[in-house]
Amino acid sequence: MKLASFFKQQAVAILEPLISLPEEQCIHMLEVPPQIEMGDLAFPCYLLAKTWRRSPQAIAVELTASIQNHSASFVQATAVGAYVNLKWNREHYGAQLLSSLEEKQNTEIEIGAGQRIVIDMSSPNIAKPFGVGHLRSTVIGAALHRIYEAAGYEAIRVNHLGDWGTQFGKLITAYLRWGDPQQLKQHPIRESLRVYIQFHEEVQQAPELEDEAREWFAKLEQGDAQALELWQYFVEVSIESLQPMYQRLGVEFDYVLGESFYNDKMPAVIEQLQSKRLLVESDGAQVVRLDEHQLPPCLILKSDGTTIYPTRDLATAIYRKEVMGADQLVYVVGGEQSLHFKQVFEVLHKMGYTWAKDCIHVSFGLMKVDGKKMSTRKGKVVFLEEVLDEAVEQARQIIAEKSPNLPDKERVAEQVGIGAIIFGDLKNNRQNEIDFSLQQAVTFEGETGPYIQYTYARIQSILRKVTPNKSALDPTISNNLWSNESWALLVHLSTYTQQLERAVTQHEPSILARYIIETAKLFNQFYNKDRIIDAPVELQNQRVALTLQTGLYLKRVMTLLGIDTPAQM
Ligand code: ARG
Repeated sequence: MKLASFFKQQAVAILEPLISLPEEQCIHMLEVPPQIEMGDLAFPCYLLAKTWRRSPQAIAVELTASIQNHSASFVQATAVGAYVNLKWNREHYGAQLLSSLEEKQNTEIEIGAGQRIVIDMSSPNIAKPFGVGHLRSTVIGAALHRIYEAAGYEAIRVNHLGDWGTQFGKLITAYLRWGDPQQLKQHPIRESLRVYIQFHEEVQQAPELEDEAREWFAKLEQGDAQALELWQYFVEVSIESLQPMYQRLGVEFDYVLGESFYNDKMPAVIEQLQSKRLLVESDGAQVVRLDEHQLPPCLILKSDGTTIYPTRDLATAIYRKEVMGADQLVYVVGGEQSLHFKQVFEVLHKMGYTWAKDCIHVSFGLMKVDGKKMSTRKGKVVFLEEVLDEAVEQARQIIAEKSPNLPDKERVAEQVGIGAIIFGDLKNNRQNEIDFSLQQAVTFEGETGPYIQYTYARIQSILRKVTPNKSALDPTISNNLWSNESWALLVHLSTYTQQLERAVTQHEPSILARYIIETAKLFNQFYNKDRIIDAPVELQNQRVALTLQTGLYLKRVMTLLGIDTPAQM
């Protein structure tokens, strides 16, 4: 039973005979009152005023009277201004809802059954630092993967490493001139970044360095042994150095396939484009024109004959569809690439691939960490590792102050620090720009990861003191008194499936993040109002059962988002 729709269906059944509006419209008009004590749903009477030729207030009073006279249901109506408020009988429905929560724990939705979804996520550029954009892609991608799987999809995570392109010519040039092999082995990203930055500084005075870099990349493309060896080494050490960070974030991949993987698949794409007469010359380069879509042309071959980013994405998409068997292709990439993906998807369409409509750019906004942006070239960067360490350090300090006797403090600090960063990202609508404040994200109050974790730990501590009793779910045995607070929590928990569905169809983890913020707030209100541990026994059963379900739902959603659930904090 989906609660909101259950309430709405009942409301429509009651209202329809009285107002003769189509069912659809009636459902659409129903609102949720701002305060739970006002009722569970409200029907506004403004629209009826015209045809009924009475004030909406008078209509509300009239409708309320007819509902009270005619309906023998467990729904109570009250006229408040222009609204008819409808309140469901809590004694009658409470235990029923509580046990349906338990049933729903074991069933997932099936909207993705039989479908394979390939997720392009993380995808950092080798030998450049892992930027905040890549962090967002990693965190959002990993959450979406679990959310899709919970909806029945088979979801495949691909790390599309940026391991090819002209920057490797620069890197090789710089490394051969100024590199330190010892440093490269120990701190591959730092060392390659150092020489990369030096390249950009020195090239100001010595423009011929650009030519040297171009030559090295040309050599690389032609398979020159020294160039290939150096490139391979850069790739290997970089992948290795990314691993600990992925581990800390709890992220895994099904495939790590860099852009270079598609090198031998591009000639076929270019041939196809040629035979379909889609390629035209423009300033010596080969492009596909997209005028009819009001888009600038998509560059396919540069004037020197080398392929570029869009060409590789065409080959990649075709591979994911034809070899990996993707039904949907999702790209979790920053909004600054939205033109790129529009162009690539349109070109696929023009090539005759009708499945181009199943390619989705799941874009996200920029994020600044403590006001700092990232720019590799100029060397003003915050390293992700440092951001993670700093978050953990702050968590460690708060824990030392708040719970000095906590066992396993180190582990919990790591879980809280990392959880703070993941949640601080995911709670925002992904398209929004984020001004991320580390200090705010790590606090235990407000809409933060630690606040959710703390609420979860509080629930576990209650459950260690009292054991849930099965009879709480039996409406004939348990006492069914519901406070506004416990009822609000119960009703909110019952909407989980709908929230999960919305998160899937909108590719939007923030829907579930907001859902657990609300869950935690409602739980804490309930906990402040209703006694649990020292409540009379029949009431205690029901409240403990509600507490248990809240803990299970919190854990389930936190796990989907990638946040750990320490049992003690
Ligand atoms: N490596 C790219 C970057 O950092 C992102 C790759 C995104 N995926 C793709 N298939 N183009 O900008």
